[in-house]
Amino acid sequence: TYIIAQPCVDVKDRACIEECPVDCIYEGTRSLYIHPDECVDCGACEPVCPVEAIFYEDDVPDEWEAYYKANVDFFDDIGSPGGAAAHGVIDRDHPFIAGLPPQNT
Ligand code: F3S
Ligand code: F3S
Repeated sequence: TYIIAQPCVDVKDRACIEECPVDCIYEGTRSLYIHPDECVDCGACEPVCPVEAIFYEDDVPDEWEAYYKANVDFFDDIGSPGGAAAHGVIDRDHPFIAGLPPQNT
């Protein structure tokens, strides 16, 4: 899967959403999250993020390793809705993201 890391937090440009052919990029309160089971690794989202927040899972910088787990675990109690647009904005974040001080301000 691809994941979204620190540069997205409190920024949420949302350009990535338009590129994803399977609509698997879900919006939380402070960040967006890529669904690890719905993402087909097409990579279309990665180059359009203006702050370079998106990485293939094996390419996540070490300093942002925790964002892999945050992206995956975010969906523990959501399951696989099969489409972010229909599901709508999710008014919370993974606890790791929620606990961060203001980012990228
Ligand atoms: Fe975030 Fe970049 Fe998408 S800032 S919402 S990952 S375009
Ligand atoms: Fe969509 Fe990006 Fe995966 S465009 S399919 S989230 S690599």
